[in-house]
Amino acid sequence: MLNAENVRKRFAANEVLRGISLNVEKGEVVSLIGPSGSGKSTFLRCLNRLETIDEGTITLDDDVMCEMRGGALHYADSKTLRRITLKMGMVFQSFNLFPHMTVLRNLTDAPVAVRRLPRSQAEEKARMLLAKVGLADKADSYPHQLSGGQSQRVAIARALCMDPEIMCFDEPTSALDPELTQEVLNVMQDLAKEKMTMVVVTHEMRFARNVSDRVVLIENGGIVEEGTAEQVFTSQNPRTRQFIGEAQG
Ligand SMILES: Nc1ncnc2c1ncn2[C@@H]1O[C@H](COP(=O)(O)OP(=O)(O)O)[C@@H](O)[C@H]1O
Ligand SMILES: [Mg+2]
Repeated sequence: MLNAENVRKRFAANEVLRGISLNVEKGEVVSLIGPSGSGKSTFLRCLNRLETIDEGTITLDDDVMCEMRGGALHYADSKTLRRITLKMGMVFQSFNLFPHMTVLRNLTDAPVAVRRLPRSQAEEKARMLLAKVGLADKADSYPHQLSGGQSQRVAIARALCMDPEIMCFDEPTSALDPELTQEVLNVMQDLAKEKMTMVVVTHEMRFARNVSDRVVLIENGGIVEEGTAEQVFTSQNPRTRQFIGEAQG
């Protein structure tokens, strides 16, 4: 469903992605793990077109976001890019809720403005999704009245309001206290059970091991190892063992 091939990206002289390839099947949960600074966020941002790449191919379903032609990189026209990015939900470490809007408004803003959904319909859907993440009673609250865990669950519901085909998460729990982390992981685990396609950058090794279908270890802008969660977590590769040993503390 989502396919990235040989993705390269540099910031000035710093080559951050050194030819990363990743294929994600519909309904699959893929965890990206690896040390800080290894390029995980940059890769996710490239998939969502929050960054442009320098080389490589990225496709979603039948749509080509960018590809190499005659040795040069070409991005699709804006209509295609829009179609692709509308299929992708993104959840960041820092929630990124609009502070001046109620929770309900945070959820309905994009569906009304971008998808042209009638407000009543958007609100109905938003309330359904708030209930799903356990926050039915917070529709009229403002972001500052929420805990970090609640904020992140709102951010997840907000992304779901756009009916994404694939959800990308960038360390969604790393800004949270440990006691709030689990409530967010539970919501993500529910999504996984419902066969939502997910790409998750995470340092939560238990989530990576227990929830993902596949785990990809990235270091220095390249893939060190990938396989089923079981394969990676029982790997004999010394780098994999070292990283997982440290990450599990
Ligand atoms: N906008 C940017 N401009 C310049 N360098 C960046 C930018 N974003 C990330 N980098 C650099 O890219 C490298 C990978 O960063 P990042 O993708 O955030 O890693 P990770 O998410 O694995 O911690 C780091 O060296 C970082 O400093
Ligand atoms: Mg990161």
